[in-house]
Amino acid sequence: MGIRITPSILNSDVSDLRAQLDLIATADWAHVDVMDNHFVPNLTWGLPVVEALVPITPVPLDIHLMITDPDRWAPAYAEAGAQSVTFHAEAASAPIRLARELRRLGARSAMALKPTTELDAYLPVLPELDMLLVMTVEPGFGGQSFIDPMLDKIRRARRAIADRDLDIRIQVDGGINPDTIERAAEAGADTFVAGTAVFRAEDPAGAIARLRELAEA
Ligand code: DX5
Ligand code: ZN
Repeated sequence: MGIRITPSILNSDVSDLRAQLDLIATADWAHVDVMDNHFVPNLTWGLPVVEALVPITPVPLDIHLMITDPDRWAPAYAEAGAQSVTFHAEAASAPIRLARELRRLGARSAMALKPTTELDAYLPVLPELDMLLVMTVEPGFGGQSFIDPMLDKIRRARRAIADRDLDIRIQVDGGINPDTIERAAEAGADTFVAGTAVFRAEDPAGAIARLRELAEA
């Protein structure tokens, strides 16, 4: 599986999302953070905005749902045409059923773990997933610093996936930049969200290329 760079538009210039997506046309996916002010203490956008972005984005959308009750809301994002839909393990009441439903609707299914959530209780969900998101900051805001002990969690997740002979991406989200991406890649991550490291850079395409180069090294 190759490296994927998936910039987050959370801290981009949200007054012109079309232009922001065009800035990251060399990325693999655009990461869209949906927050409901309940699961996390921040509010962003929801289904109508995602539906509006699907036909105009140059790269497929990777939806990260930081919402309560993903069982109810996540399938609509798959129906809207998102390439990948990530729900939080802590919020889903029936993660296996939900992951299967996302796949049935034609999306890639993904599950996220907050920094203090262990994978162990969710091992039975793995065969239903295309990607596991290991949060490397507490979800809710961009611009936070990478939590180092998550490297061990990435390593353990990579081992659990290999032991089961599964083909699952490991995405990391939070504090990914040129100083942290190599460590995350070495631990077993292959899919990298980067918000501020891409959109606060003078040259977002250059920042994407640099991150890709470091992750592939
Ligand atoms: C945080 C979001 C991230 C955020 C990452 O809850 O899930 O996707 O945009 O931002 P950086 O890369 O600045 O940590
Ligand atoms: Zn995210």
